[in-house]
This record gives sequence, C-alpha cells and structure tokens, in this order.
Amino acid sequence: MAEVNLIVLVVFGIVLSSAFADNPCLKGPPVPKNAAECCVTPSLVEPSAFMACHSKWISQTKRQMAIEGIPRGCCVAECVMNSTKLYSNGKIDREALTKLYLDSAKPMPPEWKQIALDSIDACFKMADSMKDEIDAGAVLKPAFEGEQICHPISGTILACMGMTLFAKCPARLFTVNADCNKLKKYHSQCPFL
Ligand SMILES: *[C@@H]1O[C@H](CO)[C@@H](O)[C@H](O)[C@H]1NC(C)=O
Repeated sequence: MAEVNLIVLVVFGIVLSSAFADNPCLKGPPVPKNAAECCVTPSLVEPSAFMACHSKWISQTKRQMAIEGIPRGCCVAECVMNSTKLYSNGKIDREALTKLYLDSAKPMPPEWKQIALDSIDACFKMADSMKDEIDAGAVLKPAFEGEQICHPISGTILACMGMTLFAKCPARLFTVNADCNKLKKYHSQCPFL
C-alpha cells in the first residue's frame, strides 16, 4: 500500500505539472511498443472501446495539453467513462468501476485482484485530495473554437489507474527487456493516451 501511495504522489505531481508547458508526455512513448506486450493489466474497457474514444478526441486532447493553467479535463477519458455509464454530473460510480476492473481481473493471475482494489482506493483518495482543482477544471471556458470542456474527474481516475496498475505489475508477469524498461520509466510519469 505504501508503494501505491508513492505512485499516486507521482501521478499527482504529473497531473499538476502537466499544467505547465514542456511536458515530457507530449511527445508520447519513447519506443513503438504496446504496453500490453510488457505487462497485461486489468482494464476498464476493451481496447476497441478505448480506441473509438481515442480516435474521436485525441487531437483535441493533444491541443489542450499544451495550454497552461488549470488542467483541462480529458475527453478521451470522459468518452470511455460514458461508454460504460460510469460518469454522470462530475462523479464516477466507484462501485460500478470496481466491478468492471474485478471482472477484467477475474481470468488473470490472482494477484491482480488486490492490486486493482488498492489502486482504486488510492486513485479515488488522490482525486478527493485534488477536488478544488478538478472542480475548477470543469468550469473552464473554451480556449479555442470548438473546444469541448470535459470534467477532469474521468481523466484523473483513468490516468491514475492505468499508470498505477502498470507500475504495480508483479515482477513475474513483467517482460524484462530494453523497450519494456523504457516504457515502464515513461509510464511512471506519463498517462496512457
Ligand atoms: C459524457 O456524457 C455527458 C452526459 O452525461 C455529456 O454531457 C458529455 O458531453 C459526454 N462526454 C463525452 C466526451 O462524450
């Protein structure tokens, strides 16, 4: 649990520092490798559902990442949460989210269950501790023509979950090679986008 808290602190720092330009995550992963080739983690939705939201929103999200100030909500994440009906009115249904992660973990190696539960707990605690900033991000005005404002809660939870699960991959399930090690380092700071 102490380790999970450490990771969450790092995620917290990144979510905050992404408010500033020069963000190391803007360039994307350093190697053309899929994280699932390094470690398969439980996930909230199927890759196809994620990709549908990614294609729809990623260009807006990239543009927003370069804007300074209060972090803007990620519409890729809100679209994913909407696809599972987990998001409404600035809130994520934690119970339903837990069920989806546990369903995903069910056919996987048994240690994932507790890792998923601990990660959910840590990520919701982190989001609570950032509540003021998250609420401020939800009421921003569009900074460019056609910008859709999404509520930051979905991106905060999804980024934290993706990064925490990958970081907590049990050693016996992690493929050790140069590319995977680089990816692990990158995703210790940067969300999956
Ligand atoms: C998600 O659903 C809400 C309605 O609950 C809607 O206002 C919002 O635009 C949707 N977000 C995305 C990214 O589709």
